[in-house]
Amino acid sequence: MSAERTLVLVKPDGVSRGLSGKILARVEAKGYRLIDLSLVSATREKLEAHYAEHVGKPFYEPLVEFMLSGPIVAAVFEGERVIEGFRSLAGATEPTTAAPGTIRGDFGRDWGLKVQQNLVHGSDSVESAEKEIGIWFS
Ligand code: PPS
Repeated sequence: MSAERTLVLVKPDGVSRGLSGKILARVEAKGYRLIDLSLVSATREKLEAHYAEHVGKPFYEPLVEFMLSGPIVAAVFEGERVIEGFRSLAGATEPTTAAPGTIRGDFGRDWGLKVQQNLVHGSDSVESAEKEIGIWFS
């Protein structure tokens, strides 16, 4: 059986704040293996596929606009239970209250904007990871 893989995105706020290296280093330091890496400008088409299950939610359109606002770092990491492990490293969705020690808890906060600028995305299941890796590394 091959080890699990996950898609990690450093969102535009993480890239523009110069945190990409620090964020990727935390994932590597935990022991996950970097398999693929790319600096990309998202397209609306990619984001529609990536966030398909959130269409119609109040945050969908602001989230897509935010993800289009600057370059993104896309990475694939591999390891035992990496999906769960990365989400634990990332911390809770809301950066103001994400636990200290997590990426969002240490580097994120509310900037008073309507968009959640929460630095990173990580796949939430094996199925999502497969789909998302296909979208960003086709
Ligand atoms: S849900 O409704 O429970 O599925 O939402 P959740 O899993 O917490 O979040 C799904 C993705 O939407 C992002 N999100 C937001 N973006 C912008 N603004 C607001 N208010 C907001 N709320 C949630 C959240 O970060 C998830 O995106 P990713 O890229 O996976 O982090």
